Amino acid sequence: MPIPPLYEGELTGTTRRFELTAQTGQAEILPGVITNTWGFNGSFLGPTLYMRRGETIEMTVRNNVTEPTVVHWHGLHLPAAADGGPALAFAPGESWSPTWTVDQAAATCWYHPHPHEVSALHAYRGLAGGIVIADDESDALDLPHAYGEDDIPVIITDAKFTEDNQLDETIDTTYGLLGTTPVINGITKPRFTATTRRIRLRLVNGATMRFHHLTLGVPFRVIATDQGLLDAPAEVDAILLSPGERAEILVELEPGKDLTLRSDGVPDNGGLEKGETANGFGLKDTFDLLTIVAPDESAPELGAVPGQLVSVEKPDATGATEREFRLNGFQINEQSMDMNRVDFVIDRPGIEVWRVTNENSDWPHNFHVHNARFMVDNADGSEMEFTAGWHDTVYVPPLSTLILLVDIGYYPDPMLAYMFHCHMLFHEDEGMMGQFVVAEPDQEVQLAGAHHH
Ligand code: C2O
Ligand code: CU
Ligand code: CU
Repeated sequence: MPIPPLYEGELTGTTRRFELTAQTGQAEILPGVITNTWGFNGSFLGPTLYMRRGETIEMTVRNNVTEPTVVHWHGLHLPAAADGGPALAFAPGESWSPTWTVDQAAATCWYHPHPHEVSALHAYRGLAGGIVIADDESDALDLPHAYGEDDIPVIITDAKFTEDNQLDETIDTTYGLLGTTPVINGITKPRFTATTRRIRLRLVNGATMRFHHLTLGVPFRVIATDQGLLDAPAEVDAILLSPGERAEILVELEPGKDLTLRSDGVPDNGGLEKGETANGFGLKDTFDLLTIVAPDESAPELGAVPGQLVSVEKPDATGATEREFRLNGFQINEQSMDMNRVDFVIDRPGIEVWRVTNENSDWPHNFHVHNARFMVDNADGSEMEFTAGWHDTVYVPPLSTLILLVDIGYYPDPMLAYMFHCHMLFHEDEGMMGQFVVAEPDQEVQLAGAHHH
C-alpha cells in the first residue's frame, strides 16, 4: 500500500512552513494503467501534513492546475481568512498564503478544495490529503505512533473510469459523482504488510458521495472521531463514515491471520425508504478495500491498550443560542448557497445548540461545520447510534433530527464567512450550503467583495 509521505514542513522555533502546489499529473490508480489526475506536490492526492498544537502554521498554496481553486483545511479551527472557503479561490499561476495557530486537540483531519460549485470535481481529480494534528497529551499515551509503520493513514476516495481509463467526470443529476472503484491512498485493493501486532488506522472518507460502513471481520477499537481522541477506546464490529468523516481505530493482529478492511453496505439502507434509491446512492454496495497482512511470530507481544485516553466532557449548553437547519433536496432552510448572503452572525465564544433535520424520507444527507467541533446530544427519529466524542461531520438519516452541541472557534472577522453544508459534495456544489460570520458584538458585518443585486 502506498503511504502518503509525511510532510512536516520546515520548523523554525514554533513556526511550521509548508508549501503545497496543486498540479496536474498522471497516476497508476489501476495496475498497469495510466490515468490523468491532479495532486498536491505530486501527481495524485497529497502528502500527510503534520502539525502540533501551539504551533503557528505558515502555508503557501500554489495553483498550477487549469482552473481557479482553493484549499480548505477540513476540521481545523482557524480564522476565516485561512479557512479556504469559496470566496478565497485563486487563479492558475497564483498562490495563497494563509497563516494560523494550531489550537485544538490531536486529531486526524484532511484538506481538499472548496471552489464554488466544483468542489466535488476538484476533489475527485485528486486534490485531497490527510492532516495529522499532534499534541503532548496524545503523544504520552501508549498508542501506535510510528507513521507508516504502525500508524497508517487510509485515505478513501473513489473513481469511475472511461473506456480509455481516464476519470469519468459525468455527474449524475441525482447521485452526483459517485465513484464505482474505491481508491485507497491512490490505488485499488492495496495490501499493507504489518510488522507489529497492533496498528492504528487513520480512516478518512474523502469520497465525494460514497458512504462506507467499515468492517474487519473481527471487533476493533475506535479511539478517535473527527475531532480527536475519545475518553476511552470503544470496541465495535463496524463503523459508518459518511463523506468527510474520519475515525482512528486500533486493530489487533495475530500472526497468520490476515484481515480485510471491507465496506459492507450501510445497514437498513441508511434509513432510506426505498431500496432503489439506496442502491442509487451506493448504500448497498460492498467492496474489499484493503488487505492487512498479519505480522509473523517474531513481532513482539504488546501490552494492553490504555483504558482511558483523554477527558472528553459533554459541554454545558444552558442558555445557549439555538439554531435550526432543515435539509431538504439541495437546500438548507429553503435556501441555496449565495456567496453574498450571511445566514447568521456568531458574536461570542461558547456552545450553541443546533437542531439539524433531514426532511427527506428517501435521501441521505450529512452535515459539516467549518471551524467547529460538535457532540451529538440527541437524535430523534433514527435508530442510528452515534459515536460519543467530538465530530465536525455527521450523518443525518432521513426524517431524523440531530441535536448538536456546537463549539465554534472564535476568530472575529466581519468580512469573511465560514460554511456549513452537506458534505455529499454534489449536494454542496448544487447549493446545499450556507455561510456564517464570526464577529465581535458591535462589529458591522460586510463581506469582502460582496455585491448587491
Ligand atoms: Cu470538507 Cu466545507 O468542507
Ligand atoms: Cu470543513
Ligand atoms: Cu445532502
